[in-house]
Amino acid sequence: MNADQLLKGQRYQFITILGRGSVEIFESILDRLLAWDLLNWEEYEHVKSPGLLSRSSRNLLDVVTCKGARACELFILVLEDVISSSQLTDLILGNYMPPEKTDESSELLSSLASQTLQKQRPELVRKLHGHIAAVLEHLHRSGHFSKYECDEVQLPIYTPSQQARKLLDLTNAKGDDTAQVLLDYIESEPRPIKPALGNICLKYQEKLSSTLAAQSRFLTSYAGTENMCLEDIYVDCVLEIPSTAAETGCLSFLIGLEDIFGPDGVSNKDADTVLITGEAGSGKSTSLQQIQQLWATKRAFQDFAFVFAFSCRRLNFIDKPISLKMLLFEYCCWPDDHQDEVFQYILDHPEEIMFILDGFDEFKLQFTDEEKLCSPTKPTTALNLIFNLLQGNLMKNTKKVMTSRPSAITANLRKYLQKEVNLKGFSREGIETFIKKCHSNASSAENILDFVKANSALHGLCHVPFFCWIVSKCHEQLMQNGSDFAHTITDVYLLILEHFLLHFTHSNEGINEVLLSHVVTILHLSKLALDGLSSCCYIFSAVQLQEAEVSEEDISLGFLVHSHSFSRAHCVGNNRNYEFLHITIQCFFAALYITLNDNMEQSTLCSLFKHKQRKTSPCMLPASCVKGWPFYCHQSGDQHERKSEAMLQEAERSNLQITASFVSGLLSGRHRNLMGKTSLIQMRSKKYKLVKKCLAKIIQKHFLSIPPAVGGEKKSMHALPEFVWWIKCIYEMQDSDLAKQAVSKLDVDHLKLTYCGIGPVECTALAYVLKHLKNPVGLQLDYNSVGDLGIEQLLPCLDICQSIYLRGNNISDQGVSKLVDRALDSCNLQKIALFHNNLTDACAQNFAKLLKHKDNFLALRLGNNHLTGDGAEVLAEGLKQNNSIQYLGLWGNKVGDAGACALATALENNTSMLWLSLVGNDVGSHGARALASMLKKNTILEELCLQENSLVDEDMLHFAEGLQSNSSLKVLKLANNRISRKGMDFIIKSLKHNAAITSVWLGGNHVTAEEIEEMTRAERRLTF
Ligand SMILES: Nc1ncnc2c1ncn2[C@@H]1O[C@H](COP(=O)(O)OP(=O)(O)OP(=O)(O)O)[C@@H](O)[C@H]1O
Ligand SMILES: [Mg+2]
Repeated sequence: MNADQLLKGQRYQFITILGRGSVEIFESILDRLLAWDLLNWEEYEHVKSPGLLSRSSRNLLDVVTCKGARACELFILVLEDVISSSQLTDLILGNYMPPEKTDESSELLSSLASQTLQKQRPELVRKLHGHIAAVLEHLHRSGHFSKYECDEVQLPIYTPSQQARKLLDLTNAKGDDTAQVLLDYIESEPRPIKPALGNICLKYQEKLSSTLAAQSRFLTSYAGTENMCLEDIYVDCVLEIPSTAAETGCLSFLIGLEDIFGPDGVSNKDADTVLITGEAGSGKSTSLQQIQQLWATKRAFQDFAFVFAFSCRRLNFIDKPISLKMLLFEYCCWPDDHQDEVFQYILDHPEEIMFILDGFDEFKLQFTDEEKLCSPTKPTTALNLIFNLLQGNLMKNTKKVMTSRPSAITANLRKYLQKEVNLKGFSREGIETFIKKCHSNASSAENILDFVKANSALHGLCHVPFFCWIVSKCHEQLMQNGSDFAHTITDVYLLILEHFLLHFTHSNEGINEVLLSHVVTILHLSKLALDGLSSCCYIFSAVQLQEAEVSEEDISLGFLVHSHSFSRAHCVGNNRNYEFLHITIQCFFAALYITLNDNMEQSTLCSLFKHKQRKTSPCMLPASCVKGWPFYCHQSGDQHERKSEAMLQEAERSNLQITASFVSGLLSGRHRNLMGKTSLIQMRSKKYKLVKKCLAKIIQKHFLSIPPAVGGEKKSMHALPEFVWWIKCIYEMQDSDLAKQAVSKLDVDHLKLTYCGIGPVECTALAYVLKHLKNPVGLQLDYNSVGDLGIEQLLPCLDICQSIYLRGNNISDQGVSKLVDRALDSCNLQKIALFHNNLTDACAQNFAKLLKHKDNFLALRLGNNHLTGDGAEVLAEGLKQNNSIQYLGLWGNKVGDAGACALATALENNTSMLWLSLVGNDVGSHGARALASMLKKNTILEELCLQENSLVDEDMLHFAEGLQSNSSLKVLKLANNRISRKGMDFIIKSLKHNAAITSVWLGGNHVTAEEIEEMTRAERRLTF
């Protein structure tokens, strides 16, 4: 199809794409069309005239299609350049192949300055971006622009790129002289125009940084309870750029907080928002506080002149329309004077501005890109303002860093993200550092650490920073209760409940007594918590507290802390707002209410465990939050229940899931007697049975939905995202009957749980349930955050695993040592895959032991780790004593010649190995020679993979010899080495005497297309 036919045939789709895009995109398309002379000025003015983008798009298509096929071809090239949309490539362009750019696009520049301005328009817009003020100043001083014209260009209704275009248009209208002055100025200073911060801005910068420094100095959730200085307590969390292996072949890796704006992991270079995702309590808010603190104290992020930090939870409270200017100045930091100049500087220098947005999941409405806003001075809702910032319609080129729980991220929002980074909580070392920081007394820190390490489930929990904080804070009760006390998340939260109550009452009573004596307070707080969750309300006004009968004394227990809300409407006089110490504490209290309240209906309980998609709730502003509040004030018990079930559907899903796990824990046999009178306990037993039935049913239903295995393949189950949550609920119940019952009907060969956010806590629960499986399975946990801690948690279910896949899980030698110890005793386990972890030579000893002692072991895949020749030599020793292993994968390590030689020697008399991969291992001639001569003796190896090494022609001579006396090898992979025609001829010759080989891979070597053709004609088994 021709380009003009395509434009005509798909006109509607083209207009839709252009019309839905931003003005910025449309105008940069026009820039390019102007530069390529596809539009003249008259046409440009006509197309650009203000109005709906779809109308302008229609005009543009009319103009272009009138100009014939070549113009249409160039137009499509421009579109592809500017719009990186899969919709464009997949839906519209389809099979259309645009021609290469030709002279037209790279014509020599004309000598006239005004024409140069036109030809180079796209670059000039980019160069001028953010430097308009300085350029105008120069043009004004040199008499080319009047003051009025300078102001006109800088009107705040224009974005910086639009200002640049305005400037170019005006210069163009003034003729060649002005154009020349502008070009000279830009040329004289290639990155000229970054004016130092003037005094006015400096003053504002100082005020802003001292505001932010003060705001972030103490951990927010401690406000009111203890003033914990962030600097004293902060420990780096694990931040991972997730693997995008499927698309680009790149693998996940870790980065430091200070590198979040770096080039790593960028998936959309046109966007400028970095998203940090992490589960509840994983340290998202704290990480942002740290960024804020680092900037404000000049320790990092100094490329930014201004940083503006917002909490999405608090933005919900802005109940009037506001403009960008109001948001920055009124809700972050007010410039004492020259507000307009400061704001102008901000608009002119977007690349020097950072926005910090905490808790995107806490917004009351889902992200939408329907309402466009480009004006920084036009008031709108706070939410719409933020959505437009994220899209880049407002303040394009500012850097934004935003946090969210993973569940709140929609595909629509992902389009506007530059990259996604996963926050994985504390590493093993992080836990140690944190506990040491919490306890200045070294011996008590050591005691706590020893205790935690001795209780593996608790150690797993500490991987989540918030749990680690609880454990550290409540260590006294914890250690008094003995090591058997805290296994589950519910145990840990009960601990904090007990801790706060004991501190408040200064008593030495047991937990049950303390809880009983505070049952009224607990009911008040838990009612407040559930009401809040049900209406997505996390900040409570004095009125709401009063209505929930929460007294001053209840508040003084410390579970509610002052909220630093900036909403004036909500903090008049002494009426301060409160929030729970942490959102998960709110969930815990809500769960207490559900468990303790006699009137809770069965259906409400069951609905907690069902998976419901979150609806977009219309209650965006606090007014509506207050309106629906409290939802059962004057209702009878029955009405209240029905309503509460309905209201639960509005609650945020991830909070409901956390609440449901707490409900499971609180109903468990271990905690059922808490605060119990006999009647209550009976009631709770009933609830317990109900929840148990619900969970067993849901999981079994999930299993039944697994499609049967296709002919010859293994039956495999890819778990639903909810699967892990249900498993966690079962674990919280600590009921092994339920665990058995839940998996009794699971009949699969392979259980796939890739990319499920599985960390040590989830591993504990998985092992608790999966160990009851009847038949051995392959457990695939690739690309989670299992880590060494998680490996320990998984050990109880290792016996039932036939194979375990742990690719990309941040596992080190320490984890391997635990894994191998258990694997030695587990007769089912035959395959281990640890591709892309942090393994070094130190793990080789363990695998050597495994190979030596486990005579049914089949496959070991250690690709993309850090093994060198030393490690491979140790591994080879183990290999010599094993005759069961069939697959050994070492892709992407650095075993080099020494490693290859050792492995080759070990394989000479091996009778089991079918497949060996040494791809990308720095293997050179020495190693190649050893492997080639191994082929002379080995009678079993079927596939040898040596791509991406440094093999040369002479090495092929040895392989040719090896192949002549080998009759088992079927596939030899030698692609991407340094072999030329000469070397390949050796192989071709030897293949004449070898009938076993089915293919030799040789692509990516040093041969020409003609040579390839000749060689494949001579030997069909060569593959290029
Ligand atoms: N890097 C850290 N160093 C020290 N303590 C931390 C760190 N991160 C988190 N914590 C502790 O964990 C608590 C909870 O962390 P934070 O509030 O940052 O979690 P979050 O991921 O924002 O949770 P939510 O999803 O509920 O908003 C903090 O109050 C602090 O006690
Ligand atoms: Mg948070």
